[in-house]
Amino acid sequence: MDILCFSVLYCISISLFSLAEVCKSVDVLSSSEPIRDGDTLVSAGEKFQLGFFSPGNSSNRFLAIWYHNIPEKTIVWVANGDNPVTDSSGVLRIGNEGKLVLVNQAERVLWSSNNMNTSSQSVVAQLLDSGNLVLKDDSENVSGNYLWQSFDRPSNTLLAGMKLGWDLRMGLDRHMTSWKSAEDPSTGDFTYGVDLGGIIPQLVIRKGRVKYFRSGPWNGIQFSGVPLTPNLIFIPKFVNNSQEVYYTFNNFNESTITRSVLNASGNHQRYLWNEETQEWTVIYMLPHDACDVYGNCGPNTMCIVGDFQICNCMTGYQPKSQAEWDSLVWSSGCVSKNPFNCSKGEGFKRLEGVKIPDLLQFTMNTSMSLKECEFECFKNCSCRAYANIDATGGGSGCLLWFGDLLDVRKLSVHANQDLYIRVSASDLDSVNSKWKEWVAVAISVAFVVLLVVLYFCIIWKRKKHAQGTGITFDLPAEDENSLQLLIFDRVTILQATNNFCDSNKLGEGGFGPVYKGQLPNGQEIAVKRLSEDSRQGLNEFKNEVMLIAKLQHRNLVKLLGCCIEEERMLIYEYMPNGSLDSFIFGKTRENSLVWRMRFDIIVGIARGLLYLHRDSRLRIIHRDLKASNVLLDNEMNPKISDFGMARVFGGDISLVKTKRIVGTYGYMAPEYAIDGLFSTKSDIFSFGVLLLEIISGKRNREFNHPDHCFNLLGHAWMLWLERKASDFIDPQLPNSFDLSEVVKCIHVGLLCVQRRPDDRPNMSTVLLMLDSESASLPQPKQPGFYIERSSEHTNVEMSGRNCNSNEITITLLEGR
Ligand SMILES: *[C@@H]1O[C@H](CO)[C@@H](O)[C@H](O)[C@H]1NC(C)=O
Ligand SMILES: *[C@@H]1O[C@H](CO)[C@@H](O)[C@H](O)[C@H]1NC(C)=O
Ligand SMILES: *[C@@H]1O[C@H](CO)[C@@H](O)[C@H](O)[C@H]1NC(C)=O
Ligand SMILES: *[C@@H]1O[C@H](CO)[C@@H](O)[C@H](O)[C@H]1NC(C)=O
Ligand SMILES: *[C@@H]1O[C@H](CO)[C@@H](O)[C@H](O)[C@H]1NC(C)=O
Ligand SMILES: *[C@@H]1O[C@H](CO)[C@@H](O)[C@H](O)[C@H]1NC(C)=O
Ligand SMILES: *[C@@H]1O[C@H](CO)[C@@H](O)[C@H](O)[C@H]1NC(C)=O
Ligand SMILES: *[C@@H]1O[C@H](CO)[C@@H](O)[C@H](O)[C@H]1NC(C)=O
Ligand SMILES: *[C@@H]1O[C@H](CO)[C@@H](O)[C@H](O)[C@H]1NC(C)=O
Repeated sequence: MDILCFSVLYCISISLFSLAEVCKSVDVLSSSEPIRDGDTLVSAGEKFQLGFFSPGNSSNRFLAIWYHNIPEKTIVWVANGDNPVTDSSGVLRIGNEGKLVLVNQAERVLWSSNNMNTSSQSVVAQLLDSGNLVLKDDSENVSGNYLWQSFDRPSNTLLAGMKLGWDLRMGLDRHMTSWKSAEDPSTGDFTYGVDLGGIIPQLVIRKGRVKYFRSGPWNGIQFSGVPLTPNLIFIPKFVNNSQEVYYTFNNFNESTITRSVLNASGNHQRYLWNEETQEWTVIYMLPHDACDVYGNCGPNTMCIVGDFQICNCMTGYQPKSQAEWDSLVWSSGCVSKNPFNCSKGEGFKRLEGVKIPDLLQFTMNTSMSLKECEFECFKNCSCRAYANIDATGGGSGCLLWFGDLLDVRKLSVHANQDLYIRVSASDLDSVNSKWKEWVAVAISVAFVVLLVVLYFCIIWKRKKHAQGTGITFDLPAEDENSLQLLIFDRVTILQATNNFCDSNKLGEGGFGPVYKGQLPNGQEIAVKRLSEDSRQGLNEFKNEVMLIAKLQHRNLVKLLGCCIEEERMLIYEYMPNGSLDSFIFGKTRENSLVWRMRFDIIVGIARGLLYLHRDSRLRIIHRDLKASNVLLDNEMNPKISDFGMARVFGGDISLVKTKRIVGTYGYMAPEYAIDGLFSTKSDIFSFGVLLLEIISGKRNREFNHPDHCFNLLGHAWMLWLERKASDFIDPQLPNSFDLSEVVKCIHVGLLCVQRRPDDRPNMSTVLLMLDSESASLPQPKQPGFYIERSSEHTNVEMSGRNCNSNEITITLLEGR
């Protein structure tokens, strides 16, 4: 009996409880009950909420939809972006014609749904759990048959299930429109939608009517210009049939919340809600880099991020205006060197993993194979390129381009879209004549055989010689050095690094990732994979490697060899203690280096640099000296690394101007960062920064001080002027040090970072200063870049992908 009673009570309480739940959330707006400012609708599953809001500091009121269950108010739809209610008198109701209308106190209509008039009295609006506000006739039963829905009028946000694109039957073009700014939801400059582009649709962001970004056509798997891999976050879908052409996505599962936004500067960003940290994270954005910006390089170019110059003429083309090209103005692009005339030798060069040209002048045939496509293109002299339409199942269909090839970029290796461009006979020769490769192989085999024979001859002769005179024969030391440079084969490197296993990765330099490896003989090595698109020719590369291999100094990392099969790699000796930055930044007092060690490291770096600048037979300017490029061997001897990409000069050139500025913010001398002028003095500047970082234990780049906005250099100089240089010393520095020596080092550091290159000492003077006990040093003048410079006037282009530290090797293109 008791049990029965209890169950009944339990049941009643449960049903009461669920009743309360049901009553709490009102998701329907009927004609009798309007919504006033302050009221809200909440969708049945409590996912979305509709009401009035004011963005930022504005007092304007907007009718909007936001997530109900996300604490950070995230607006996903706005009705009256261009017509705000200026006070809290706004009312949303269902008007007489069966439309949703938003009126103010004076009954002025600020916004209304644009559906047909209806005389039905039973029209209701409902906020669905998808975030869709729908208007429907309640007397009708057919689900999905809406009079109007907010999903057809996207604001700046695309939610799961929303369609971006066309309903061809109704001529409805659903596109996203950016806000004016993050604080102002009125219509902004950018739109994002599906461009039908003749026959082949693409997603396009436009600024006004001008294309700003295009996704490339859907190739069956992905948008060909946006090689996103399948992921556990969202599932994209593209529909193209005679009735509809649209893009949509679903969240990966119920518990994943993502949305995509077109922001006020035309960037499409995808956000993922992170339940743990309770914040939105951007998982990708488009345009992602400079090469994504539509036509950034002009016609007939290939845009390559991370290359010396991002814009490159395609094979067989040359800059339209060399002068413009030289001053990094790309917009006029390239023109073909020789007009194509269908002569016998012409052929096609395959460009792998690229975003195919925009569909301006083209024809297509979905049933042709690639071979037929090539033939079709070959026949017609004005056909410039061809490609498959569909990349699934090995590729099918044929696209032919006539006229200029616009907006082509190199994609990651995973992109499976190839493009074949027409090249003349002479360009074809250098590209892919198989038999020539074979001849080359045959010649090199013959050469090796010859060498072996020669070697045995010499041995034999030498033996005879030694027998004759009793003296052994030694090669001169230098030749020995160059002989030690090994060409490694790729398989050896793959085995040594465990197939470039991630756990072997040591880090990422400016020109590619570095892996640890172990050769079969037990020797440990560091392998640097140079980023693929280095445009240097093979011979130049080999020459340069030979030159670097000849640099032998105890304060330079030794190059052991290289690999040139398939990709280019440099093989260095492995430094067990890693790089200097881990010892001077972010350490604890326990593992902090004592002063003597820091001083020895400073002197070691100075010696290495002196060798590069003066003592080696070549004049070498490092250009990217920084803490992470100084490695430490097991006795904590510093060794400068990454000089592989430094500029090598045979002669006595003391000042050079470059258009391509490589280096790292915080270490670059002003004349170099701004004007591209580099000399040994720009290395001295970097050395000065490094010296001050070693003493202070702080990064120049990250340095900030509550009292002023100087960077580390400015801070050091200020303390110097106030005669408080000792305040600059790393508080973590263990106590036993000679204050006057540290102060002398600060003094030298400040001399090295002076603004004018001529004022800076050269490396041998620096060493003298560091060595001498009591030389009277000149007073330092104002340092260069002592206030953090904003990067407003320069285009910054990251060439390293590893962004986990603030220290990224950058390529700075001069702003024009
Ligand atoms: C909003 O107001 C606060 C306080 O008046 C001010 O600090 C802030 O800069 C304002 N924000 C904007 C975007 O105007
Ligand atoms: C809809 O109703 C409004 C107001 O009654 C009227 O002015 C308008 O002409 C109607 N439109 C159509 C298409 O019937
Ligand atoms: C409404 O739907 C229910 C069940 O889904 C059905 O039984 C009913 O006949 C429908 N009413 C109308 C008017 O279509
Ligand atoms: C949703 O997917 C994530 C991984 O993507 C997984 O961790 C989670 O368990 C899934 N949730 C549900 C409810 O399936
Ligand atoms: C898109 O659909 C139209 C109509 O069905 C068709 O003609 C066209 O070839 C399709 N485009 C692609 C790229 O599949
Ligand atoms: C838009 O997004 C990009 C990339 O995330 C960002 O750099 C830019 O500042 C954003 N613009 C605005 C106005 O928020
Ligand atoms: C076609 O052009 C090539 C160079 O591009 C030239 O050598 C050849 O003579 C031309 N042939 C004809 C038929 O004009
Ligand atoms: C497409 O190519 C096939 C095979 O070459 C050909 O039979 C067909 O006529 C072509 N279609 C068009 C529209 O050119
Ligand atoms: C080459 O193709 C273009 C574009 O389809 C066409 O206008 C032209 O007539 C073709 N020329 C020849 C010789 O077939």
